[in-house]
Amino acid sequence: IVSVPSVHELVKEKITEIPDRYIRDTSNLDHEYHDSDDSSAKNNIPVIDLESLLYGESDSANSELENLHSACQHWGFFQLVNHGISSLVIEKLKSEIRNLFELPLEEKKMIWQGPGNMEGFGQHFVVSDDQKLDWSDMFFITALPINMRKPQLFAGIPLLLREALEAYSLGIKNLTMSLLGKMAKALKMDSDEMEGLFNDCSQRMRINYYPPCPKSQQVLGLSPHSDAAALTIVLQLNETEGLQIRNDGKWVSVKAIPGALVVNIGDMIEILSNGAYPSIEHRVMVNPTIERLSIATFHSINSDAEFGPALSLIDPPRKPALFRTETVQKYYQNFFAQKLNGKANNLDFMRI
Ligand code: SIN
Ligand code: FE2
Repeated sequence: IVSVPSVHELVKEKITEIPDRYIRDTSNLDHEYHDSDDSSAKNNIPVIDLESLLYGESDSANSELENLHSACQHWGFFQLVNHGISSLVIEKLKSEIRNLFELPLEEKKMIWQGPGNMEGFGQHFVVSDDQKLDWSDMFFITALPINMRKPQLFAGIPLLLREALEAYSLGIKNLTMSLLGKMAKALKMDSDEMEGLFNDCSQRMRINYYPPCPKSQQVLGLSPHSDAAALTIVLQLNETEGLQIRNDGKWVSVKAIPGALVVNIGDMIEILSNGAYPSIEHRVMVNPTIERLSIATFHSINSDAEFGPALSLIDPPRKPALFRTETVQKYYQNFFAQKLNGKANNLDFMRI
């Protein structure tokens, strides 16, 4: 990991020139969009109602399961509403996260990333001195399982934030397990097989801060990538858009629906579903005048497990496995040695 300056601090210095390391080659930065104001369904990611999926009458639960299946097959992204995480928990988390990024630099430095340790404040995936940098700061923390937490880091964050994170972590874990169960059902995958891979799942959170940038069209808040983990849940903290997903070769902006969570399929689910639920490339654009905050929560298969395409989904020669089986540990070793660069690294590593 290479150490780079805090973008938040750069912005506070009221710089007039954006350092070269953030300026992208705009010919690579295609700005071809589906118009997010176009209200036709094809340009809007699907919305799933968790309450009707889990507790609806059989007709509405079944039709919501079909919606989930289709969203996972064709979009890899959906907005989740009626998700059951109380707005109190969310509001508390939002205000504590704002406070976290407003801490003075001296205090932030006490919980900064260190050599060989990505947790704390810093940047992700800076692996070389000449790579282009993302216009964002982040705070990265492992929340579950509890024995994988960094005790000093937990002790080093403000008590109110710790409490808010605990409540949110629990809610998101339960919600993730429910979604994975429904995905297994929709895929016709053995539900015990799914449960067995996730019963000691790890949960990591990346809290993102994207300061405004006067050259917003020439920088990226987060480089295009697909997520390495299984399932990601994003909470957009303010009503500022920025997240874009690749759909049909064009970028689609994800709306900031108040109270909704954004869920996306990661590479582990693409592998586990043997390609049925593909992970989707996405990126973050920054705003010229408004900051943006988000929190992405990643769930991964038990860290001591091996995984590959679900046994209940492959049936050679008719349905051969498209990926091999590997330990979660080796899978992540490969992942963290790369910089973020579109989709594929993890999948190429696993493809047969
Ligand atoms: C991401 O985690 O890929 C992006 C989250 C966001 O800022 O919307
Ligand atoms: Fe992501």
